[in-house]
Amino acid sequence: MLHDPNHLYVFDTTLRDGEQVPGCQLTTPEKIEIAKDLESLGVDIIEAGFPVSSPGDFQSVVELSKAVDNVIICALTRANNNDIDVAAEALKFAKRPRIHTGIGASDMHIKHKFNSTREDILARAVAAVKHAKSYVEDVEFYAEDAGRADLAYLAQMVEAVIAAGATVVNIPDTNGYCLPDQYGAKIKYLKEHVSNIEQAIISAHCHNDLGLATANSIAAVQNGARQVECTINGIGERAGNTSLEEVAMILKVHQQQFPGLTSNINSKLFTAISQKVSSMMRMPVQPNKAIVGKNAFAHSSGIHQDGFLKHRENYEIIRPEDVGLDEAGIILTARSGRHALKHHLERLGYQLDKDELATTYEKFLVVADAKKDLCDDDLKALMQS
Ligand code: KIV
Ligand code: ZN
Repeated sequence: MLHDPNHLYVFDTTLRDGEQVPGCQLTTPEKIEIAKDLESLGVDIIEAGFPVSSPGDFQSVVELSKAVDNVIICALTRANNNDIDVAAEALKFAKRPRIHTGIGASDMHIKHKFNSTREDILARAVAAVKHAKSYVEDVEFYAEDAGRADLAYLAQMVEAVIAAGATVVNIPDTNGYCLPDQYGAKIKYLKEHVSNIEQAIISAHCHNDLGLATANSIAAVQNGARQVECTINGIGERAGNTSLEEVAMILKVHQQQFPGLTSNINSKLFTAISQKVSSMMRMPVQPNKAIVGKNAFAHSSGIHQDGFLKHRENYEIIRPEDVGLDEAGIILTARSGRHALKHHLERLGYQLDKDELATTYEKFLVVADAKKDLCDDDLKALMQS
């Protein structure tokens, strides 16, 4: 597969790693609706499911393959022929099918999950890729728990699976173990020590157990990864996966650090898709979540509000419009200053001179101390009191 080294391939696994979260299961029609939104958002690959895991997941991969036209549809397997046969069957209507197969690469997994040896696991990895390749051209291989794997062995495995036909090599930090410099160094090592690495795309797949999933994915990109696996709202196993919206906005805000690197993501759709995924999966977004949390663009302290109202870039590195929000929020609490109160009163049509504002502000503080925050009706009542 020819790939563009200046393109960052965005691989969305909301419907696979994300959907594995207890309570987040979706019906097939719901998955189709989200897949279509992901297509509009501009992701390059949708991981649609793990077909051998259940008849429902199999059927979802079939239906998503039919419903989505312009995005690669990917199905997950373990490194065995039956999983791969079932995935190939589920993908038969996909216009651009990908099989994602793999096996544990760390000694921990080799010994305590497979009760096996490095040699045997390597042979199983190669056999799985060859089997997947008999069905589809586009084969992604994941070296599970690569975050804790021995580097030289990982490089040997990556080289062998590329030689067997893998077009993408996924280096998952399955347990969210690595520090950004460690994960970045791992990708750099593979770039420098795997002789055929240019024939494949390196993919970052990071979990958030230490809150580092996004930082690790960015470190991977800085060191040559050209695919990032992520989910909407960062949902996923345990503490979650890399958040798609965070990666996209980091690349936008820090464009100069990634010269020439492009993606197809339309960030203006973030707020809408985040809310849809959250409500369909019954998984609330934490208010302080970067980019899509309720408070991500809300200014509440007097010092920040005053600075923001003087010049928004004093306290805003991303324009709310760029992620699909109408405007930043100036929240009125007991910590707000006169400037913020005046801003809201003017918005509601009240023009106050300096003395009137001072009196109103005293009354405002009494109400604000008794309430968490004030809405328009509270302000109107204040003006009539
Ligand atoms: O975290 C992980 O290692 C995975 C693989 C199955 C890709 O999700
Ligand atoms: Zn994962």
